[in-house]
Amino acid sequence: MEIEICVPITAKTVEQAIEDIKEAEKLTDLIELRIDFIENIDADKLKILLDSKSKRVIVTCRSKDNKGNFSGSEEERINLLKKAIELKADFVDIEINCDKNTIQEIIQNKKDAKTIVSYHNFNETPGLDKLNEIYAEIKELNPDLIKIVTNANSINDNFRIFELSRYKDDLTAFCMGLRGQISRILAPKYGSLITFAALKENKESAPGQITIDEMKNVYNIHSMNKGTKIIGVIGEYAENSMSKYMHNKNFNQKHLNFVYMPFKVRKEELEEFIKNFRKFNFAGSSVTIPHKVEIMKYIDETDETAQKIGAVNTIVNNNGKLTGHNTDYYGAVHALKEKTELNGKKILVIGSGGGARAVVYALKKENAEITITNRTMEKAKILANEFEIKSDNIDNIKKLVLDNDIIINTTSVGMSPNTNESIIKETEFTEGKLVMDIVYKPVNTELIILAKKANCNVITGDRMLIHQAIGQFKLWTDQEPDSKLMESALSEHVKNHQS
Ligand code: ATR
Repeated sequence: MEIEICVPITAKTVEQAIEDIKEAEKLTDLIELRIDFIENIDADKLKILLDSKSKRVIVTCRSKDNKGNFSGSEEERINLLKKAIELKADFVDIEINCDKNTIQEIIQNKKDAKTIVSYHNFNETPGLDKLNEIYAEIKELNPDLIKIVTNANSINDNFRIFELSRYKDDLTAFCMGLRGQISRILAPKYGSLITFAALKENKESAPGQITIDEMKNVYNIHSMNKGTKIIGVIGEYAENSMSKYMHNKNFNQKHLNFVYMPFKVRKEELEEFIKNFRKFNFAGSSVTIPHKVEIMKYIDETDETAQKIGAVNTIVNNNGKLTGHNTDYYGAVHALKEKTELNGKKILVIGSGGGARAVVYALKKENAEITITNRTMEKAKILANEFEIKSDNIDNIKKLVLDNDIIINTTSVGMSPNTNESIIKETEFTEGKLVMDIVYKPVNTELIILAKKANCNVITGDRMLIHQAIGQFKLWTDQEPDSKLMESALSEHVKNHQS
């Protein structure tokens, strides 16, 4: 059964709501009228709203107890729902935490409408046993549909919702919040009947709701089914990742049944997340800050390159065996080679984390003459010893810039939201150098802006991002992606979202 995308209407006035209904009906067949958002809602206004719809509609009137906006009495609220049935609403939604006799009365007198009995937990996602109890309690009332919505405090909460909804055919279930987004995206895969998507940004009816445009055009949600293979990026700030634009466009163009999404994972959640990753047989992932080194503990093997680099940015799941790879080095070389030869060049690498390790590994292979520097000098020295390169103190940055041909920033300095920071200050540049940043959000980092001002050539972080993504795509799918499509997907997003 194809997933239904329901767009909630959250306008405050009848006029605006009618405008939003018209717009939403161009995009989907199901809308939810959140009548509690309408100021001074009454039976007359409800009639005008229901008369204006041409597709199916759920009427919902959330009380303040359920984090809604309805300020009238409980009796008035229930009367509005009864009125909605009379006015031929397709569905009415009533919450399990209101009076049981009232719920039964609505269900028994539903006429042509269908009933949804819903459970909301704005604090947490209860354990699976508790969720099943809630499901059974609602089921006993015999509504047409059951809706269970919880708050995800951790990405791992989503998996309980997947367990709950997997084998049920009357349930819509997902997690709210940024950490719950994967449950909204994966509704078609794990059997949730409806997923809710916002008409536009700032028109969300609940935290974490994704826009319908993104659901359709980034995640290709209508092509998703139970066989869809799941890939994502594991990162503490995975929501910043732009890889979803590049990979999903290519999956779609090549008719590959894959979807790529952010996996927002904190350090302390990583081990549990990888257990869930295995249990739910996710097909692969990218790995980003701060997990590139730590992840090696939890996977089954790392290929030779990733081992030498000491960091993993890609995981492939081969029949349950998780293998770590590193395509960052490949990305760095290709991004640099678009602008310059590397053999014999003097290169300064700033930083000593996972990113730096991949870049140094790549440059060594190309016979460059490398110097490494870092805020924490001991880390730079360890890396210098391991790769047999020079290290120098970051306090000498001005001289280091002067002495090298190419300068590469591998630190996170300048990354959104700290966009006004630069690892090299305005007075420390030397004209004519080639300056590369591996930070890609924003594409024009402060470092890049200052480098251009100082008449340096630049390589922005999106170049390495694209090339490392090409390497990942091949590992997951055994196919060559269309790199031009990756580029256009990325630049379209950057144009719309960044200055
Ligand atoms: P990754 O694996 O993605 O490279 P990481 O291992 O956390 O991430 O490394 C981040 C790099 O950015 C490190 O070199 C770090 O310097 P320290 O080793 O001194 O921690 C550097 N870095 C992060 N924030 C910084 C800042 N504000 N100033 C200077 N360097 C910074």
